[in-house]
Amino acid sequence: MIVTVHRKAYFNAAHRLYNNDWSDDRNEDVFGKCANPYYHGHNYELIVSVTGEINPKTGFVMDMKVLKDLIKEKIEDKFDHKNLNEQLSAFKTLNPTAENMAVVIWNLLRPYISETLLLEITLYETPRNFVTYKG
Ligand code: NI
Repeated sequence: MIVTVHRKAYFNAAHRLYNNDWSDDRNEDVFGKCANPYYHGHNYELIVSVTGEINPKTGFVMDMKVLKDLIKEKIEDKFDHKNLNEQLSAFKTLNPTAENMAVVIWNLLRPYISETLLLEITLYETPRNFVTYKG
């Protein structure tokens, strides 16, 4: 039986959306308030979903304690209370949109989850705006 397990996590982070190749006016046209040069913050909600066969020995798809610790170490500790543009190397040249963040988070977690399991990232930037990425 194929089952999906989900683990939620939260982090707060600041960012600014802009394209270096564009003028300030063009950036403001495209990104609006998100282009504010003084940054702004979001309360991000992250849902990490892992899909696979139930292990008959444990009854688990994946040990949730292991998943919890992985998310804390690889994501929360790196992203929480950070300025994403300035403090995370992944976003030195990559715009820290929810879309790009979901891909970065997926890439950070993928090496640590069994190849037999599917990984999907859901990232809420606001309660109404969220993105999903499954590789
Ligand atoms: Ni924003």
